[in-house]
Order: sequence, then C-alpha cells, then structure tokens
Amino acid sequence: MPFQSKAAIASTSNGLSFVPIKGAMPVPTDGVTAAQQASAYSSYAVADDVVLPEGFTYDVIAAWGDRVGDSRFGYNNDYLSYVEVRPGEGYLTVNHEYISAKPWLQTFEQVTGKALPIEAVTAAAEAAGEDGIDVTALEDETLKGQIAEISREALIDLGLSVIYVRKQADGSWVRVAAPTDRRITGISGLEDNRYLKATGPAVAIFRKQRGIGYVDGLGDRIIGTFNNCAGGTTPWGTVFSAEENFQDFVPEPVNADGTSLDPSEKPFFLTETEMGGKGNPFGLAGNKYGWMVEVDPANPNDYGTKHTWLGRFRHEAVAVRAEAGKQLAFYSGCDRRGGHIYKFVSQVTISDPKSKANSRLLETGMLYAAKFNPDGTGRWIALAPSTTVNPDLPSVHAGGMITLPKRPTGGVEKYTDDAAVEAYKRQFPTLGSLYTGFDREKQGAILIDAHFAANAAGATCTGRPEDTELAADGSVFIAFTSGSPSSSDGSPDKRVFQGPNGETPYEHGWIFHLIEDGNDPAAMTFRWENFATGGEPAEGGLGFSNPDNLAFDNSGNLWIVTDMSSDKHNIAIPSRTKADGSAVSQSDLRGLFGNNSIWFIPTSGANAGEAYLFGYGPMDSEMTGPFFTPDQQTLFIAAQHPGEIGGVRENMAIETRQFAMKTVNGEMFMQTREVPIGSNWPTKGENDPPKPAVIAIRRTSGAAI
Ligand code: FEO
Ligand code: CA
Ligand code: CA
Repeated sequence: MPFQSKAAIASTSNGLSFVPIKGAMPVPTDGVTAAQQASAYSSYAVADDVVLPEGFTYDVIAAWGDRVGDSRFGYNNDYLSYVEVRPGEGYLTVNHEYISAKPWLQTFEQVTGKALPIEAVTAAAEAAGEDGIDVTALEDETLKGQIAEISREALIDLGLSVIYVRKQADGSWVRVAAPTDRRITGISGLEDNRYLKATGPAVAIFRKQRGIGYVDGLGDRIIGTFNNCAGGTTPWGTVFSAEENFQDFVPEPVNADGTSLDPSEKPFFLTETEMGGKGNPFGLAGNKYGWMVEVDPANPNDYGTKHTWLGRFRHEAVAVRAEAGKQLAFYSGCDRRGGHIYKFVSQVTISDPKSKANSRLLETGMLYAAKFNPDGTGRWIALAPSTTVNPDLPSVHAGGMITLPKRPTGGVEKYTDDAAVEAYKRQFPTLGSLYTGFDREKQGAILIDAHFAANAAGATCTGRPEDTELAADGSVFIAFTSGSPSSSDGSPDKRVFQGPNGETPYEHGWIFHLIEDGNDPAAMTFRWENFATGGEPAEGGLGFSNPDNLAFDNSGNLWIVTDMSSDKHNIAIPSRTKADGSAVSQSDLRGLFGNNSIWFIPTSGANAGEAYLFGYGPMDSEMTGPFFTPDQQTLFIAAQHPGEIGGVRENMAIETRQFAMKTVNGEMFMQTREVPIGSNWPTKGENDPPKPAVIAIRRTSGAAI
C-alpha cells in the first residue's frame, strides 16, 4: 500500500504533482506530523525494486547483456541522453561507467553465455597481493592471455551504447533496432580500427614520437573510452560523455611534457569487489583518458571525439550553454575529493545553437577553473602558461593537504606545510614554469594535467563535484556530493564547504547555484550560493545524502538523485554511540538514509527549496542519468550497480536491522528495518542475476510527470 496522508495529498494542491513515497527517514515533506513520526517510522521494509509514487510505472528498455549492434549492452549504465527524431521516438545514448566486480564475475557467464578464466586469474591476483600484476612484464603467456581476456570483456562492458527507442500506442517504451545501433567500448580501435579522434592542444602531445615518458605510437588515434559517468546533450544533437575515474585503469599523473607514466605504474589487480588496472594488459597511455567525448548518435560511423580543450580530469558531467551571438560555455566538475569546477569558453561566438558545426567551436578557446570566495563571489582562473602559480595553502582545506605537480621530476606531490607551498610559489612563478615544450605543447601539457595545474593556479578545492546542470536562465546548479577528506586526493576548502551548523568536514553534500556576472557565459567573475544541503532534517539537512545527478523539468523544478556508497546502504545503526564510547561517523550514519533515491525540489513557488521523495532504487544501486522527454511525459533513468555488495539475492534473503532514528524535531526512536540482501532486479524472479538497466518512468494515465 503506497504511503499516503492527508497532509501530503493537500500539498499536491500546492503545486506538487505526486504524493511522495515513504522513505526510510522522516522528512518535513512526508505529510506526517513530527509528533507522529516516531510511531509512523518504527518499522520500515525496503523493496528490491524501483519504487515510485502511486500512479507511476516503469518500462525496462535495455539491460546489461542485451544485443546492441555487433556487441552487447554494457554494464553500470549512467548518463542517458534522449535526442528526439520525431515525437515519441529517438536516439538513446547510454554511458557505461564501470563494472562492479562481485556481481559481474558472479553472473557474467549466465548473462553473456561466455566462460571466463576467473579461478586462475583470482588465484594469481591473490598471490600477487597489493602490488598487483604488471601484465606487460609477465613471462607466463597463459596467465597473460587470461588476464587480457577478463580485462577485455570488462572493457567491452564500458563506454557507450547508442540505441533507438519508441513509445507505443499504450504509452510504454521499447527498443527498436536501427542502423545507428552501436557500441563504443573501452577497446574500440584495439582490434577493429574504430579509433576515437581528438581535437585541441593535447593532440600535439599525443603526436610526439618521443618524450620524457611513455608514448603509445598511435599518434592522435585513441583506443576506447571508459568510466563514462554522466554527460550532457548539446542543442545540436550530439552527446558528451564524461570519462571519470580513469585512474582506476591507467596511471593518472604525467610528466612535465604531458607524456604518460609507463603502463606498468598501474598494474592489474583483482579483489572480491574490485578489478583495477584494466588498461595495463593493453599498454594504454594514461594521458588519453580523463576527457570529454563527443558522439553524434545519428552518425553510425562516429565512434567519438575527445575534445582536449575541456581538460583532463575526473570529469563527472557537462553543462552546455549555447546561445546565439554569445560564446559557447561548457561547465564540468572533477569528481574527486578536492576536485575543481571548470569552464571552457570558446573564442568564436555561436551563430546557430542547433548547427552541428558548433563542435568546431571546441577547437579554440580557453579552459578556466573556479575560485569560490567565502563571501559568495568568485572568479575564473585561466589554465594558461602565463597564469601565476598561487595555490591555496594546505591549512585552508578540511584535510590539511593539497597536491601539486612534482618538479623537476614528473608526477605529483602532497603538501601539508603552508611554508613549503609558499616556497613552491617562489620557485615556480607561472604554470608555464611547471611544464615543458613549445607553446602549443605547454598548453597541451597543462590541459592533460588539468587538476594539478588548477591546484597550482589557486582554483578552489571543492566537495567532490558531481553533476553540473544548466537552468533555463543560464545559471548553473552544481551537486557537491561529499565534503569528507581523502588522504590521497585532497579535500574541500573548509571556508566554503560547511554543514548546516558550520561542520567541517561535512559528509552529506550540497547543491550550489552559480550565476555569472552580467549573465554572460564568458564572464570572468560570478556569484554563488548554497541552494540545498544534504543531511538529516533534525540536523538541518533536507533528508538525503550525497546528491549526484541533477535534471530540470520544463517548469524549472530540480530533480536530484543520490549516490551514497553502496557499502553504506542500510548498515545497521542500533546506537549512535559505538562500544568504545565514540560517536558513529558521519560516513556510517548514511546507513540511516536507506537506498539511493530520487528527489524533487521546486525552485520557485510556495514549496521552493523543499525536498520531496519521488522514488528509490533497487538494493545496492544508484539511480542515474535522469532525462525528460520534451513532452515531459517520460523520465528516462537508469539503475546502476544493483547487487554491488550483496551480489545475487539468494532465496529472497532478508535481514532485520535496527536503526537509531530521529524525527525532524530530533526525537530519538528505534526503527526495525527489513533489508533484502543482494538484488534480483530488474527481472525480479527468485535468484535472478541483478543487471544494470535503463527504464522509462511514466504515469499510467499518460499525463506529464
Ligand atoms: Fe560516477 Fe561521480 O559519479
Ligand atoms: Ca555521478
Ligand atoms: Ca556516482
């Protein structure tokens, strides 16, 4: 029985078009009075499904293993882009981010019909331990082939799928075979000549025959794309796909001339939950990954172009601002602890936002990184050779550390001492003094090393930027998913990234609103404000944790999905104090929030800034890639990594766990929660393999969402 209450229904007459579902945690928008919440939430049952408000349903459009072109639909679908050809049909371009080793290995043969040498490789990986296996130096040809085979299949499951979808007379959506159906995978080009292309200054580095470090000999041809997280869709009908955690596949740091470290620096490894270094067996060059890839879904011969003016970092997504008579602006965040917000501005202005010739505008311009001042102002810093080196000091960061290019050798170095950073500034006056090569090459090397160059230039280290989304008025909303520090990557500026009560570090995330001065996409200064904060309502948060993808509907309402790490979902919190008397960490308290979820936040009207729970995803999953059809009747969305922690749900396994919850007023109460272990989604039959899949959400009435 869907959760309903008079109060929630009443709020529908106040601009809300659905009755919020009941989540695991009491929120101010659930229609239950604070006094009733302790009893209303004393028990809760989680479902291994996509749970939606009454009156909504979903169609499964494509799932891992389905046939696409001459290959299969990949794993862990993330960004979705629907480019309509005519009303009710069009191209659906789907990102495939990574593989979740546990369910992938557990079900690969069942889903694809192919057997993999898992036992042999697992045994070798265990014996190698933390060092991993440098396949390029292996003498055992059998093992070499076995690791290459597993890595190859994993890389085939990454990249992009281009499929075609159509709405049927009954309102449901199905896939239709089309000549444009194709896969662009992590190994496109390796065996089939379907190389990806590249534009911009880093091409000068790719074409080098010799350099300080590793050169793959392929020039500007690129093998594959992987870890394709979120993305963006242009008004000219192309899709941008963001290469995010490429450092799990290939070496991330580079030399001063922009050439890669040797592939042996990122050896293959395999544990129960992770498979890393998948670029190692194929000698992939690290500097060719971590870019934005543009694909035209309508062109069956297009296997993607990496535009290097957009910088090489852990790209989450992109917001495209293209207005006639103005310069083109692309906003993208780097999803790492301490990562930056970037803006590319084209040199040339746009004449027709719908012209496919606009792709050429990405070949000339400048990349900037954002400085967020604590007073709500900000500016853009050019990542050019002439830019002054002026890093933020280690002490302003939540984790007290910043990474900078290591010189005179290549790579990066951690700095925890303010005086050492002051000395670094004196030693290296400009970005140009940190990189080598002729003018164009220096610019290329800076773009390749964008995150560390931006650290050196003084860009603000932020709280893990996830999605960047353009609002109708040209302003940009940015999800910062988490403010917790990392001892290896970095942490946010604690003057800017604080919890509702000034907490630093703060885990549960924020959504910022960035407005360019003069509303000019090419502006060099901006204003920013915190629009929404994650966390428990009793502590001043909106009731979600770790915001990730964002989408606007045509009425300007913001839709957000969350990405709490799967290993934190529904972890039992029987008490907020541990046995040793210490407090349970913010990170672990995410167990209170239940599964990853979908929220609706009006940006105007009586309910502006309030968060309403629209749905949640299957066990261990993350809902990704929300994308509305132009008629607003369908919300395409994907479920990524169901069963990531629990694997296949066996015999409908379920556990009962206890949670020390709070009502919105802070009254403590105990919740008994039924938690399915593992997933059988989307087919939902007993012992079915969990499969990442793309769905279409719609009202059974056919009305707009
Ligand atoms: Fe792949 Fe940052 O989410
Ligand atoms: Ca994401
Ligand atoms: Ca994510």
